[in-house]
Formats: sequence, structure tokens, C-alpha cells
Amino acid sequence: MRERRPAVLSVPPMPPRSTPAAALLAWYDRHARDLPWRAPRGVTPDPYAVWLSEVMLQQTTVAAVGPYFRRFLERWPDVRVLAAAPDEEIMREWAGLGYYSRARNLVACARILAERGGFPSDEAGLRELPGVGPYTAAAIAAIAFDRRAVVVDGNVERVVSRLFAIDTPLPLAKPEIRARADELTPEKRAGDFAQAMMDLGATICTPKKPACVLCPLAERCLARKSGAPESWPRRAPKSARLERRGAAFVAIRGDDAVLLRTRPPKGLLGGMTEFPGTEWSSDFDSARALDAAPLALAWKAASGEVEHVFTHFALKLTVFVGRAPKSCAAPEGARWALLAGLPGEALPSLMRKVARQAGFDLPARPRT
Ligand code: ADE
Repeated sequence: MRERRPAVLSVPPMPPRSTPAAALLAWYDRHARDLPWRAPRGVTPDPYAVWLSEVMLQQTTVAAVGPYFRRFLERWPDVRVLAAAPDEEIMREWAGLGYYSRARNLVACARILAERGGFPSDEAGLRELPGVGPYTAAAIAAIAFDRRAVVVDGNVERVVSRLFAIDTPLPLAKPEIRARADELTPEKRAGDFAQAMMDLGATICTPKKPACVLCPLAERCLARKSGAPESWPRRAPKSARLERRGAAFVAIRGDDAVLLRTRPPKGLLGGMTEFPGTEWSSDFDSARALDAAPLALAWKAASGEVEHVFTHFALKLTVFVGRAPKSCAAPEGARWALLAGLPGEALPSLMRKVARQAGFDLPARPRT
């Protein structure tokens, strides 16, 4: 006699994936973010695109990098073309991404790569390139070359510190987090694993309100078990951020030209364009600001201050606006530039804010 089937099939619960990496990769296969530098599944990634995106992402969010990345790739589709481009044009396209030393390293790196005929594929070789630190070398080795490399950025730090409820505060916890990330990293698909960790950190294991119900690692997460996952990673108390102040001078000439200068090549915002200004210091004396004015004009302070946060200090600038006659010559070290050409200048975000404070209609970021 034929066996009778039970009327209701009982479905056994899905066994948990064997490792956190397997669970995460299965999640990534369904939920990976569609980002412009990512190769579709099965397509070999272009190391140039991976390198470019990682350098850009060192300092800025995924959302902000997208338009810059697309423009760079459109204009300079491979490392040889980028290596042959004039420095100023690259700096100009970079303007708004910040940290111009990185753009300078990018140029230097492109020229070395063009010379040697391509990218090294291992972490050690990548680390020798200008602007490629341990994180970037690991990310490129894993994502572009499918090497097993341990990739730890801020998102990964958060995910790992929660998964293991690491109580050591950052930055002291970094070696422990790295060791745990190393244990988690699979032999195969290390690049996908790294990007899956980043995506998880960016979309689910977020700093303030992690969406644990959607997390493929929830079952194993000790921070979640504690009931307050958002309280990881632990952090040492922040010392008050240093504040600096200063003034910027926007001189407008009768022929609609503005006075600009180029910052020294090395240091903060090196090589970028700026409106002349005072030094930025914590003991800035606003009563003496006009002593540093580049021209003797009837300067008027714009209302309010421009605020900008750099990594190591917060800056507040008073903006002075002055009108100069058409015949006015530029003082040494400065130049007149037509207002119409201002969007094409390598003006960093801070100086865009200064221009807007002076009443110019300039977008926050160039052509985004
Ligand atoms: N942040 C840095 N690199 C990234 C990548 N490849 N994907 C998503 N976020 C990132």
C-alpha cells in the first residue's frame, strides 16, 4: 500500500548558516547596495575603479562620493589617462571632496601606476603606493583582486564591536576588533564579505537605531542580547573640540572680478583656491581682523559667521566684503578672477560657504 502523506507538511526551521560570514554573504547576495563602483556579480572588478572609489570614500560618505566618482571615471576612464591629466584639472574636479593632500597623492599614485603598467594585487605592494594606507590596501586587495584581506573601516568596527560586545573603548579597542574581524573573514569572497560588513553597518547596524530584526547576524550578536546594542562601540569621553576663528576678505572689483589666491601646496587645503584672509587661531582678535585685509577698502562684515568643521578643529570665519574700483591691481600673491569663472575654481567647501556668505550664488558642491 502507498504511504499516505500527512495533510500538513511541517517545515523544519531553517538551520542557522554555519558561520557568520556565510550568513552575511547570503544576505549580501540579496541586499547589496547598488553603488557605482561595484562590479555586477560575476564581472571582474576594475582595480582602477576600486582604487578611485576607496580613496574618495576615505573622507566622504557614499552618497556624496557618487557624482565625483562618475565624473572622474567619465573624464579619466583609466589610470593612464588620469596620470596624463594636468594636476590643476584633477584638483578642480576634486574640489568639494576635501583633504586635498589625498588628491595630490591620487595624482602621484596614478603616475606611478601608469609607469609600472598597473596595480600590484597584494596588500604589501599596494601599501607602498602614495595615499594607500592599511585600510585602503586591504580593501583594494580584497575587492579588486579577491585576496583574503581583513578590511576594517568605521562601519566594520561598529558591527564587530557589537557582535562580540567588546567593552574596551575605541580607539584602544582597535587591535581587538581587528583580531575578531580577522576570525570572521572567509577565505573566499573576502571582498564581498568586506563590502557586506560595510553595507550592514551603513543600512542595518547603524549608530543610533540599529534595525536588529532585519540583521542576518542578530542571533549571534551579544550587543543585541544585552538589549542596548546602540551603546557599542564604547568610546573614551571626547575632549572638547578645539575651535579656531578668523576672517576672510571678499573683494569685488567694478568689472565683476573677485580677489583670490592659491594656498601653499602643502598643508591643510594645500594648493586650493581661497579668498584672502587672516590666520585661523584660537585666540583670534576680531578687533584686529582688518589689519590683515589685502586691500584698503571700505570693508563691511557680512552678517553671521561661516562655520566649518575640519578633523582637528572647528572654524568660524567672519566674512568681510569690499568694493574695489576697476583699476585696482591685485596685491602680491593674489589675483583677480571673473565671478563667472568662480564655479570652475578649485574652491574647497569652506570657501564656497564664504562665497555664499558674501552673497554669491554658488552651489555647495561643484556640479552635483
Ligand atoms: N566605504 C568604503 N568603501 C566602500 C565600499 N566598497 N562599499 C561601501 N562602502 C564603502
